[in-house]
Amino acid sequence: MEKTKQLYEGKAKKVYATDNEDLCIVSYKDDATAFNGLKKGTIVGKGVVNNRMTNMMMQLLEKNGVPTHFVEELSERDTLVKKVSIVPLEVIIRNVSAGSFAKRYGVEEGIPFDRPTIEFSYKNDELGDPLLNTYHALALKLATKEEIETIEAYAFKVNEVLKAYFLTLGVKLIDFKLEFGRLKDGTIVLADEISPDTCRFWDAKTNEKLDKDRFRRDLGGVEDAYKEIFKRVTQGK
Ligand code: TMP
Repeated sequence: MEKTKQLYEGKAKKVYATDNEDLCIVSYKDDATAFNGLKKGTIVGKGVVNNRMTNMMMQLLEKNGVPTHFVEELSERDTLVKKVSIVPLEVIIRNVSAGSFAKRYGVEEGIPFDRPTIEFSYKNDELGDPLLNTYHALALKLATKEEIETIEAYAFKVNEVLKAYFLTLGVKLIDFKLEFGRLKDGTIVLADEISPDTCRFWDAKTNEKLDKDRFRRDLGGVEDAYKEIFKRVTQGK
């Protein structure tokens, strides 16, 4: 399958059309941004890690009953996916306090929750991805009630599967962001990526951060963190 024309360039990926109108090619870049694009940089090798890792996670989730857009890995950075229209909601699941949750509610990072939380942001860069609830999403007609229920059920299922999986690699899944899309027939599938850009991963023993927070917070060792999590995922330990 060949790329025909570029459809879209995002902050971390490009999307291309193919000869098949139902399929696209996603190409992962090394570009990194944070704080809605205010901070910019490059994480060498990130595109390769995020492409390969996302595809492994998508296949694991498919096996566990979560439909995804994944079709086939084409190369180090390129993957064939089903064409979707993205539901403009960023779906965030949290198991442990961190990031904007800790800041907004004035709590320390690292407090485990008795049960996971879910929240939605309106995927809109001009507005800075504002937080919203289900009622707001319905009022803005971003999705139907049924779609939101499906998305919530899939998001919690993703959490159960990934939390258990990462624990076998000695990694705590702190929180993550998902995006869903609609196929031509309206079916909701998991889309976008599952990578150190979109998840917080802490080493289970040391709590060392193995994700993009190293870039966001200028902690150093960014490339090494991506390499370490990738090594654990590919070597299964
Ligand atoms: P937050 O604590 O900053 O709200 O982030 C929660 C999770 O979502 C974290 O794992 C990083 C991920 N995330 C994205 O993937 N994209 C974003 O634009 C933001 C703000 C967070």
